[in-house]
Amino acid sequence: MAQETNNPYKTKVDSILKLMTLEEKLGQLNLPSSGDITTGASQSSNVAKNIEDGKVGGLFNIKTVAKIKEVQKIAMEKSRMKIPLLFGMDVIHGYETTFPIPLGLSASWDMELIEKTAQMAAQEATADGINWTFSPMTDISRDPRWGRVSEGSGEDVYLGSRIAEAMVKGYQGDDLTANNTMLACVKHFALYGAPEAGRDYNTVDMSKIRMYNEYLQPYRAAVDAGVASVMASFNEIDGVPATGNKWLLTDLLRDDWGFNGFVVTDYTGIEEMIYHGIGDFQEVSARALLAGSDMDMVSEGFLTTLKASYDEGKVSMADIDQAVGRILTAKYQIGLFDDPYKYCDVERPAKEIFTAENRAFARKVSAESMVLLKNESNLLPLKKNGTIALIGPLANNAVNMAGTWSVATKQEKSIPLLEGLKTVAGKNVKLLYAKGSNVDYDLEYEKRVTMFGKDIPRDGRSDSQLREEALAIAEKSDVIVAALGETAELSGESSSVTNLQIPQVQKDLLKTLLKTGKPVILVLFTGRPLAIVDENENVPAILNAWFPGSEAGLAIADVLFGDVNPSGKLTATFPMNVGQVPIFYNHKTTGRPLGNKEGQFQKFKSNYLDVRNEPLYPFGYGLSYTTFKYGNLTLSSNELDHNGSIKVSVEVTNSGDYDGKEVVQLYIRDVVGSVTRPVKELKGFQKILLKKGETKSVSFTISEDDLKFYNNALKFMAEPGAFQVFVGTDSNAELMQEFQLKK
Ligand code: BGC
Repeated sequence: MAQETNNPYKTKVDSILKLMTLEEKLGQLNLPSSGDITTGASQSSNVAKNIEDGKVGGLFNIKTVAKIKEVQKIAMEKSRMKIPLLFGMDVIHGYETTFPIPLGLSASWDMELIEKTAQMAAQEATADGINWTFSPMTDISRDPRWGRVSEGSGEDVYLGSRIAEAMVKGYQGDDLTANNTMLACVKHFALYGAPEAGRDYNTVDMSKIRMYNEYLQPYRAAVDAGVASVMASFNEIDGVPATGNKWLLTDLLRDDWGFNGFVVTDYTGIEEMIYHGIGDFQEVSARALLAGSDMDMVSEGFLTTLKASYDEGKVSMADIDQAVGRILTAKYQIGLFDDPYKYCDVERPAKEIFTAENRAFARKVSAESMVLLKNESNLLPLKKNGTIALIGPLANNAVNMAGTWSVATKQEKSIPLLEGLKTVAGKNVKLLYAKGSNVDYDLEYEKRVTMFGKDIPRDGRSDSQLREEALAIAEKSDVIVAALGETAELSGESSSVTNLQIPQVQKDLLKTLLKTGKPVILVLFTGRPLAIVDENENVPAILNAWFPGSEAGLAIADVLFGDVNPSGKLTATFPMNVGQVPIFYNHKTTGRPLGNKEGQFQKFKSNYLDVRNEPLYPFGYGLSYTTFKYGNLTLSSNELDHNGSIKVSVEVTNSGDYDGKEVVQLYIRDVVGSVTRPVKELKGFQKILLKKGETKSVSFTISEDDLKFYNNALKFMAEPGAFQVFVGTDSNAELMQEFQLKK
């Protein structure tokens, strides 16, 4: 049993196990959602009855410290074993103070900042009684049709792995027994980001070599960083759903990677194996346990069927004890047995949640995540005078600003763009506002994408009336800011799409605004890469704001007015159209690569008749109000020894008119391999601040470890031979030097 090799709580855990009945053991493996619990009436709820009977190991989706304290009391005072409960929640991008959606956060490329967001989320969540978050999500995704691309860190293995580490560190800190750190949970293990056709919950089918070299690595990075729990994904891997996949949850996760925390299923993951078609409820429940799932989220398959499986000899007491032991160990790890109420200080929320200080930090983080996609003739930053027309269905809406998976956020407290602009612009700006359009022409579609209280009330006026009102204020303005794009619920779980464009009604509004001849700035709200080809062609300035979180409006205004110079860089490729998907920078060459740099069509080469291979915006792309020049790329040596290293240096100059931050990116290409290798792979980055006119020398160190990959036998090693190093401002980086890894 993996936990027993180095588990400091083993003796304690074993002594508890000896006292427990089989039913109580199965209870520890049960994780229901909080259901009908309400403060003051918790004692009479169904869940409360189950807790009393020892049938619950933890609860999730329960909010407020008062409620949690009440429920913990039931476990401590009324259940026979008096084992404290875990309280979980999807604390995904902040708690009440909400940061940008994870895809946006990743665009900051700032690991310190990201770690601090997780730390602050832990501070707030633990102040409210939560001790376990279902984050980070490290699913690599190359398919923007999949709505959950918004919840991850984009398409890259290396960047995704660094972010996974930063998040785990942020949530768990150095001391899990502290009352302001919490258990993290890396999800969705594994490959959940690669469903066929981008449709959520769909089948995944992937070669082992791709899994090992690409998709598995960020989960592994979280495990190496000490993540306390892992969530199994909904999808199948090699034909077996993750929840019941022993190769995945035991052979790989525990035996190869040395994970010794606990595995929780995803929501009804066990029950869903019935629909996957691999057995009835009793069978799939037994299969989940034997595969290495320890805690059953919502299905109650462990609770209701494992006794029968035990009686029939299909699972052993040792199998059950192993899972229970892991849950009890986690409870020891965070100190719940010493003090079950350690996260239940009712004085904390008022002092620690949604504080002015936290919100100020969130404002800064949101601004760091924004990506300037286009800025013709330096239209941005805006001056703080004149008349601005702010137009669009997302211009004056608070509840969509936090984006998807923001369960703890008080949505109505987020700052809409209109309010943010007013605050930041000051008194010399005249601000006019019109909604301009609804979210979509189709009312039914609009309802589907504004669920969970995130509505943008439909305007009763006709489309042309709305447009006319917008035109009237546009005519009176010096510049138009169009706040358009997706609603919060257009991405996230179960929000896949087959059309990557801005909804047509908003495109039509934009066209109308452009016809005025006034300068138009598009502030784009999105949870996924969009195919904004028309907008890129016709709109002079585009700022991608993602869903910026609770301080949205202020942060966007900070960037629009130049109080913050944008420095975000895309972490997922923006395609030209949905037909290019999946599209990503670190692809293979194929045996028939295009022979021309311009990307023109060539017969019998790997390309399309109707669109070039190049994306609209590449991975790593993002502009600044200033400009950066790269030069003088040098290597300390053109040969690398096994135990040696090479120093890569490059000079970066701020050649424009503003101080600014730049993400200097280093990519490596393995020129010849025993298996085909990607055209380039990110292997390093640094975010630096350069004053106007300043030049800095930036250096990176490359060692053999950076060149390693899994070969055909799934052996992790580097192969001697030629390597190319590219450094630049995005994944099209062209400055290049070569070296040899010696035999
Ligand atoms: C999602 C998970 C989430 C869980 C609990 C599931 O539907 O896939 O990401 O953590 O619900 O809310």
